Amino acid sequence: MEQITLALAKGRPASSTIKLLEETGEHFSELHEDSRKLVFYNEDKTIKVIFVKALDVPTYVEKGAADIGIVGKDNILESQADVYELLDLKIGKCMFAVAGKPGQKVDSNQKLTIATKYPNVAKKHFKKKGQDIETVKLNGSVELAPLIGLSDFIVDIVETGSTLKENGLVVLEEMDYISTRLIVNKASFATKSAEVQNFINQLKSAME
Ligand code: PRP
Repeated sequence: MEQITLALAKGRPASSTIKLLEETGEHFSELHEDSRKLVFYNEDKTIKVIFVKALDVPTYVEKGAADIGIVGKDNILESQADVYELLDLKIGKCMFAVAGKPGQKVDSNQKLTIATKYPNVAKKHFKKKGQDIETVKLNGSVELAPLIGLSDFIVDIVETGSTLKENGLVVLEEMDYISTRLIVNKASFATKSAEVQNFINQLKSAME
């Protein structure tokens, strides 16, 4: 068996993903969400796990630095990476939404300013509606932008809705359903098909 490299997203969904990995029966010494270590192996070294920033996971997989990635659909959509998406792990469930102040109208003839961590996703959504927008790329605390006049609206992920609520914002338009997905490098899918399929089967059994 050839070794496969698996890129895991750091941050919010890491703990559920690590739990699911452990349920496959593979044991990765020292792998936990707060670890500062970035590379881990299972006991027989058939799987190498690398821990990377969520938005970088699709890039690692597209470029072949990782054979497989486990990451949120939000980051897959934003990265626009050319990879195969083969499994919905049904964890980290949330949605993309346009949010703003209650009663605000999203449709307008005026150019709208949208603050977001996901400018590609926002541009695609508004382009489909024929609405002209300008994006302001932020790296977090996006809900602040409409409150202080940095943007008209935000495009962000909404999970429990509590961040919006606590900042007096509401969902104005629901967008895509998001969850953690398994993605595969296109070349690895051909050259390491047995290893990739074996790993997917292990994960599927763990999910059941
Ligand atoms: C995400 C997202 C929202 C929040 C939504 O931010 O950008 O702010 O979670 O979750 P909720 O609906 O359960 O409140 P994250 O926690 O990743 O922090 P950030 O603002 O630093 O990006």
